[in-house]
Amino acid sequence: MDLTQEIKRRRTFAIISHPDAGKTTLTEKLLLFGGAIHVAGAVKSNKIKKGATSDFMEIERQRGISVATSVMGFEYKGIKINILDTPGHEDFAEDTYRTLTAVDSVIIVIDCAKGVETQTRKLMEVCRMRNTPVMVFINKLDRNGKDPFDLLDEIESELKINVRPLAFPIGMGPSFKGVYNLFENKLSLFFPEDRQTAQGEVVEVDLNDPKLDEIITEKDANNLRTDLELVEGVYPEFELDTYLSGEVAPVFFGSALNNFGVMELLDCFIRIAPHPGKSRTLQREIDPFEDKMTGFIFKIHANMDPNHRDRIAFLKICSGTFERNKPYLHVGSGKNIKFSSPNAFMADKKSIVDFAYPGDIIGLHDTGNFKIGDTLTEGEKLKFTGIPSFSPEMFRYIENADPLKFKQLSKGVDQLMDEGVAQLFTNKMNGRKIIGTVGALQFEVIQYRLEHEYGAKCKYEPVSIYKACWIESDNKEQLDDFRKRKFQNIALDKHGRKVFLADTSYALQLSQERFPDIKFHFTSEF
Ligand code: G4P
Repeated sequence: MDLTQEIKRRRTFAIISHPDAGKTTLTEKLLLFGGAIHVAGAVKSNKIKKGATSDFMEIERQRGISVATSVMGFEYKGIKINILDTPGHEDFAEDTYRTLTAVDSVIIVIDCAKGVETQTRKLMEVCRMRNTPVMVFINKLDRNGKDPFDLLDEIESELKINVRPLAFPIGMGPSFKGVYNLFENKLSLFFPEDRQTAQGEVVEVDLNDPKLDEIITEKDANNLRTDLELVEGVYPEFELDTYLSGEVAPVFFGSALNNFGVMELLDCFIRIAPHPGKSRTLQREIDPFEDKMTGFIFKIHANMDPNHRDRIAFLKICSGTFERNKPYLHVGSGKNIKFSSPNAFMADKKSIVDFAYPGDIIGLHDTGNFKIGDTLTEGEKLKFTGIPSFSPEMFRYIENADPLKFKQLSKGVDQLMDEGVAQLFTNKMNGRKIIGTVGALQFEVIQYRLEHEYGAKCKYEPVSIYKACWIESDNKEQLDDFRKRKFQNIALDKHGRKVFLADTSYALQLSQERFPDIKFHFTSEF
């Protein structure tokens, strides 16, 4: 198969949801269809159970699972599907944001009883920033939930995206009979007694065929006809272009646990979801069909074994063919690096690959060379964009708690920051180091990992910061004036860029008003 065919048959996507909506269950059912696993329960949920925030074994367990399930690849009907796993816990949201930079589309899972929840809303914002094509799966139809039209309205208003149902449910909860697939004009009947194994019986029946009344009763058939009339009246025809540009999300209904509606979703997904597309770099746009290999690191995972401090760097291939043992330029360091054992991920197994193509994710053995966002090429100096750090929301001073282990601490902190666990700022005035994170859990993760992996001890001290924003201005005078007045609140990030640490939202607002020529950025990429 040549490069063009390999690219066209690839679909790289992430499933996102609020915890408990059914992401793990849906992932598992997709893997079952692909024959990648054979029993239910093989995919472990990577969510940290409630109340386990100080249970470090739980954190380690979660890290172990998240290595195993970072990428789940499988073949389905000749299509190579790569599902990128995203952490369920909101404190790891930044990991999820970064994973979303490596996908070409997204499936959102929504619980029909709960509707749109906070985490989904936040993740959708990231999809919107990148115009990522989105499909929605409304799950748990075997339970009573909100009215389907209300759910569709809620998705439109809360997620700020137009929807187009491509399937519609008949009943819900105990009276759930199945879904009518508008994409293929087929009826899928739900038999609750076939729990977890059935894919439902699929009947090809025209909506106006009296046979429909016999199959699902006259009342349900009439309700379905009315519902579908409304669907056709309210929602514009499905158009591929509007889905691909991220304007309209096709919606499916089903029950992941019962394996119901999942195949319809998958069959439609492989037909309409995009193959790997173009990527942006500071220098130029990269076309996946270019001969030369390019790719970027979007995730770094430390070894679980404390005796081996090596790591796995996850490379998303953006163009060309990646070859084992071929030297590639690591743009950050200017070094040429060969990889003798790049890993591909198929379901829960990893194996060494000789070739990989755009859309594929490979795991590279790393002894501490890589940072998130690093580029590999065949010689061209490129820097991929769209992998920003987000302004953290929680801050603490970090101090050395064991004077004999200063070096270990500094190396440990450095490497954990490269992995993207948190962000480090150095206060310009007093030189103190500040850790900024998106969630409280990261502080414990850092402390625990510093001790167990680096033999270093740290302690935290409170610091009152509301937000860190990157600052820049063409007006040098104003910038200098601002830096003088706010010298206590100016810090440098890991790359030496200037950051304003605002004490309060009021202080930030005031600064924005008084220094109109200064731009205050909430992501590191501007
Ligand atoms: P998540 O990864 O999005 O956090 O959700 P997960 O798949 O773990 O599902 C959360 C809970 O919802 C699980 O139950 C799961 O069995 C259930 N679930 C998923 N899909 C459906 C569905 O279609 N119908 C119904 N009724 N339930 C569904 P749990 O009790 O938390 O876990 P478990 O003990 O069943 O594993």
